[in-house]
Parts: sequence; structure tokens; C-alpha cells
Amino acid sequence: MRLSLFVVSVAVFIGSSTHVSAAKLGARQSRTTPLLTNFPGQAPLPSLEQHSTQRGANTLPLDNIQGDILVGMKKQKERFVFFHVNDATSFKTALKTYVPDHITSAQTLISDPSEQPLAFVNLAFSNTGLQALGVTDSLGDAQFPNGQFADASNLGDDLSQWVAPFTGTAIHGVFLIGSDQDSFLDQFENDISTAFGASITEVQALSGSARPGDLAGHEHFGFLDGISQPAVTGWETTVFPGQAVVPPGIILTGRDGDPTTRPSWALDGSFMAFRHFQQKVPEFNAYTLANAIPANSAGNLTQQEGAEFLGARMFGRWKSGAPIDLAPTADDPALGADPQRNNNFDFSDTLTDETKCPFAAHIRKTNPRQDLGGPVNTFHAIRSSIPYGPETSDAELASGVTSQDRGLLFVEYQSVIGNGFRFQQINWVNNAGFPFSKPIAPGIDPIIGQSPTRSTGGLDPLDQTKTFSVPLFVIPKGGEYFFMPSISALTSTIAA
Ligand code: HEM
Repeated sequence: MRLSLFVVSVAVFIGSSTHVSAAKLGARQSRTTPLLTNFPGQAPLPSLEQHSTQRGANTLPLDNIQGDILVGMKKQKERFVFFHVNDATSFKTALKTYVPDHITSAQTLISDPSEQPLAFVNLAFSNTGLQALGVTDSLGDAQFPNGQFADASNLGDDLSQWVAPFTGTAIHGVFLIGSDQDSFLDQFENDISTAFGASITEVQALSGSARPGDLAGHEHFGFLDGISQPAVTGWETTVFPGQAVVPPGIILTGRDGDPTTRPSWALDGSFMAFRHFQQKVPEFNAYTLANAIPANSAGNLTQQEGAEFLGARMFGRWKSGAPIDLAPTADDPALGADPQRNNNFDFSDTLTDETKCPFAAHIRKTNPRQDLGGPVNTFHAIRSSIPYGPETSDAELASGVTSQDRGLLFVEYQSVIGNGFRFQQINWVNNAGFPFSKPIAPGIDPIIGQSPTRSTGGLDPLDQTKTFSVPLFVIPKGGEYFFMPSISALTSTIAA
């Protein structure tokens, strides 16, 4: 069956090259409600007031850091506009005018709503994009120069599933537009078209949206997302129990903790790993039902309870966000909704058995906590993804077969691609032996492990030696590695 693609528009910008002033573009129209949403269960964003009172001078230059890098998964709507630069000179001229009034800083995103624009816009470039603009300094990253398509087989991807325009290096950059209303995304996408005219061609736009009602903040399999993010020193004002605290250079290039020497203009940028993941939701549900776990230490389970339990064991959290390390036999929605408690675990009491959390559960593979013997900063990244596509229909649920495209527009920010996203995917998720030195081989991450042999152990707590052969429910359709510079670097270096 051929799947219909959700909101993939291929268009050529035909706007005039006249640059419309910022005021006309509406960027400064103010809001009455915040642009971002603190979904229940996620650690709330700091406010600018907390910053000035609690952090004083001990803060990052938040007005120069593009906002999406630090805010995480708090968007109702987002559009990724991938583009190709046709004319570097006119692009740079437009960029100089566009940046000051449109590129949105982290500071703006935590300011009073009246100071926030109707939509935020951030901008990042691929290596071919920087080359096209004559920015040829090495950024010192091993994977960035060749792009993600060249790396896809190392990530374990089935290249036959990759779709244009990701199959190559033709994407030069991406505008990220975030808001709470589709009309604002449309308006700001039109503004970009008007401002940059024929200097760029839009090669694809992918739109994501929070799920409706109480499911907002949950990804399409049904699980609350964006709960566990590292607290970045200089940005955080509150560290929540269990939260990792990392120096800013784990996320921001050139800052304390970044192991690489960078050109000076790269200070306060970040590498953005973008992945287009399709999710097979009816197939996931059918699998968990067919393989429902019959019982746990609290007693026998109905088939539906056993399916929910298997899903929770695969993720390491229940759909509410409650960690199975703290709620090992049944969901606890109050725990899932409480950021003071829902991240406060470290696997230290189950280092050698899977009674509470399988070694291969998605959140244990991607953040092994005490499995590494203590806090290790290097491999953290900030996730900033958003679901795309419609809700699963009753017909799809009844048939167990996907007929409408849906999934996750996945974003992770880090200072070193090979330490953040890429390390998590290759060295942990796809590695059947990780976490190492366990009495039972963990197998691969049952959610995102990309490997021909999708075998995972430990999913049944009463029969931990049983292995599950889990079909692939998350299919990489493409992606790219981008660099998101600081706001001053956009005008001083990129547009120079
Ligand atoms: C469609 C694909 C994916 C889905 C549906 C998904 C879903 C989730 C969910 C529901 C959580 C739990 C919420 C939380 O703890 O914050 C989570 C956590 C996480 N995911 Fe994913 N994820 C996907 C892809 C990835 C990929 C590709 C990576 C990296 C290679 C990744 C890395 C992480 C990390 C680092 C965490 C936090 C773990 C922790 O700190 O405890 N995810 N994901």
C-alpha cells in the first residue's frame, strides 16, 4: 500500500525580491498567551524573571541563542521549511534585514507573552548550505561535513526507505517556525517567502502538531514525551529531582564542556540532528496485544492490561509518563504528571535484573543513568521533536494496518553529533550488548533500534530470559545534520 505523505509541499518561492519591513511582516505583533506550552508532566520552562533574580550574572547570553535549542518539546505547532540557496548574495542581503526582527532567541521565548511574537523562527544550515554561502571554516565535527545521508547506513537505516529530498545533500538549510496556531505558521512561512524571494527554493515543508486534548505532549504510540531533558547550567533555574545537570558546552558549541576547538563565530551555536520518523501505530498496538504479558508480580493481567504493560516495558515509562522503575506493575498517572517525582530514578537498585525496567527499554538505552556507574555528561542532548500526521483512525485500529502517514519530526541538539544523537543511536540503541556486563543480553531498543535482528530480552519480568522478536514500528524516512548558529553569527558571519 502506498502511504499518503502528510503535508509535504514542494514549491518554488516566487515572491518579489523587495524586502518587506519587519513591522509589515507582523513579527512584533504581541501575544496575550505564551507561545510555548508546558505540557503536564514536563519540567516547566524557567521565566525570564526567575533568571534575573536567581541566576544574576551567572547566565548564558540568552538573547543571542536561538530559542529552540534550549526550550525542548513545548510546541503546539511547528513547521520545518527546508530550502536550497539559489543566489548567495541576495540571500545574505535578505538575511541581514530578516534576522533582527524575526530570529527568536531563548530569552524571548521565556519573556512575558506580550514580548513574544506570534510565531518563533529559527534557522540552521547544512554543511552544503554553509559552503554555498562561502562559509568554509571547519566546525570541527566529524559527521557534519558529509551530511546525514552519508551516515544513514552507519545509523542502521534501511536506505530504501529514505525519501527525497533527504537522499543527498541538496538541502542547504531549514527554517523552524513554531507557534500555537496554523494560521501563524502560514503567515510566517509567507513572510519568509516574501523576505527571501527567489534567493531560495523551498524544497519541502514538514508540519507537526501536538496531539489533541489530553494527548498533547504524547507521541503517537501514546506515551508522554519530553519529560527527561538535561538541565543546562546557565539556562536552568530549577533542577528537578533525578535530572542530569550538564555544562553548557554539552549542548552549545564553544562553551565550557565542549571538547572541540571551534571558530570564534561558532560560539553559542548547536548541531541539530533532524530525523523524519514514520510510526506504525496500528501495528504497534496489534503487536503489544498479540504478545501481551500475562502476569506481573502484582498478579494476572487481562490481555489489554498485558498489552499496556508490554508497551510500558518497551519504553521504560507508562503512557502517563510514570517511570516503570518507580511504578513497576501498574500505571500511576499522578506520578507521571509530577515533574518533582517522574524523573527521580537511576536504575541503581536493578543493575543486574530487569524486575522493574528492562535493560533495553527505550529510556534506559538512551540514558543509562547508573548503568554507566554514575553521571556522565558527554552523551546528553536536548530533544525538541513534535508529532506529525493525523490521529489513528478506527479503521486503522481495527485492521492493525497503517493507511495514513504519521510519526515524529525528531530533533536533538548537541555540541558534538557523535556524542549526542549519533552515540545514543549507534553505541547504545542499536547495540544488543548494551548496557554492558549484564547477566542477560539486553538486545536492541525495541522502539527505535535499527538492526536486521530486532531481538530484545527482559520484556517479561517473570520470564526475563524470554526474547521478543519485535517488528520495526519506527521507520527512518530521512534526515539531515544542521548547524544552528548564534543570532549574532547569522548577521556577522553567515550574511557577511
Ligand atoms: C519515533 C521515534 C521516537 C519515539 C516515539 C520516542 C519516544 C520517547 C518517549 C515517549 C520518551 C519518554 C519521555 C522522556 O523520558 O522524556 C523518550 C525519551 C527519550 N528518547 Fe526517544 N523517541 C524516539 C526516538 C528517539 C531517538 C532517535 C533518540 C536518540 C537516538 C531518542 C532519545 C531519547 C532520550 C535521550 C530520551 C530521554 C531518556 C531519559 O533521559 O530518561 N529518542 N523517547
